[in-house]
Amino acid sequence: MQALPGFREFYPADCARRNYILSAWRDVARRYGFVEFDGPVVEPIELYEKKSGGELVGQMFTVATASEPGEAKGALRPEMTPTLARMVAARERDFKKPLKWFCVPNFFRHERQQRGRLREFYQLNCDIVGEPSPAADAELVAVLIDMLRVFGLTAQDFVVRLSSRTAWEQFFLAAGGTKEDEYEFFQVVDKAERTPPEKTDAALARWGLTAAQVLDFMRSKEPTSELAPILADLEARGLREFVEIDYAIVRGLAYYTGTVFEVFDRAKNERALAGGGRYDRLLALMSDGKVDLPALGFGMGDVVLANLLAEIPAAKAKMDAWLAAEHAADIFVVIAKEELRPHALALVQRLRDAGQRTDFPLTAVKVGKQFQTAEALGARYAVLVGDEWPLVKLKTLATREEVVLSGDEVLARLGA
Ligand code: HAM
Repeated sequence: MQALPGFREFYPADCARRNYILSAWRDVARRYGFVEFDGPVVEPIELYEKKSGGELVGQMFTVATASEPGEAKGALRPEMTPTLARMVAARERDFKKPLKWFCVPNFFRHERQQRGRLREFYQLNCDIVGEPSPAADAELVAVLIDMLRVFGLTAQDFVVRLSSRTAWEQFFLAAGGTKEDEYEFFQVVDKAERTPPEKTDAALARWGLTAAQVLDFMRSKEPTSELAPILADLEARGLREFVEIDYAIVRGLAYYTGTVFEVFDRAKNERALAGGGRYDRLLALMSDGKVDLPALGFGMGDVVLANLLAEIPAAKAKMDAWLAAEHAADIFVVIAKEELRPHALALVQRLRDAGQRTDFPLTAVKVGKQFQTAEALGARYAVLVGDEWPLVKLKTLATREEVVLSGDEVLARLGA
């Protein structure tokens, strides 16, 4: 029986690549002062129906319990933002503002399968709560940029497209639209570039707007007064070249209010690597108005990123170097004489107690085979327990150098 389509099996090499990405993300998040949190894997369906909106609601994997099989009440989490908003709102007083939280959960969305989109994926989230200043937007975009630079990617490889729902709101209200219709309008704008103009015209007709007007506004490159200070802040950090103004970005999710952005790879412009923005009203919505804190954040998936890292030579080399250092064992204890196995086991245990990644043959195997295993595990040293006992032979596998030492000397030599 096979795994369900879009769900992931991680063989050791796949797991190592995933861990490479996740550990780099964690390092950078901490460098920026973010702390890690997590939430439930199953949440009430309404959490997403009410707060997320957009395509995501039709893509949920719902969960029924065995005792009440008919009725699905839960959904496998498709995103983190509503959970984060609820958690912060519930214990808001316990945390100093602005709070900077990150997480690296796996999410589930029933999407049509295509390159870069699976039904299960990991997503880094970085969010800042409690800071209305554009300095927070700039800090968030900066950490976002470094989440990609850490893999050896440069401004030639990716771009952050920065936009603003505030700008689109002003456009819409000036044209006679109402706040109630705003999200519907954003959804039309979100699809305008991918939709034939006649269809967009038809969707906009009720507000007396045309596709041409929308596309015209979309092509303007002038930063609004909300975006200009963010660009200036990034300029001061030396990160300006990573960012472009692009009003074609509106984002699909319902809760965004101000700045919004997405990250694309420059060469193919295929699928977004990451997306996010401000959601200044979500905490209030989540707490019936009790906790009214501004917030902003982004999500970056592992699938599109892993595809990109495999394609960019400098990034691939960096990843391969990391993976090469992640071998299974540093030391392989070769047992050349079976009757010495108890002594070999004692030595293995001492090496492991001292923190050395150590392996050995579980059953009697020819010495040549044992050395092959040592190489296959990527071990740097073989410690041969054989003719020299009570001394052992320490062999550096790359250079084939050998020295005969006592067990204590081996431990000292290997830094144990
Ligand atoms: P999102 O745009 O739905 O935003 O997802 C962000 C990123 O997650 C995408 O750009 C993509 O890299 C990845 N992603 C999404 N769906 C899939 C999929 N089916 N397969 C693989 N990767 C996928 C959010 O989820 C927001 N909650 C982000 C956020 C955090 N906004 C504020 N804070």
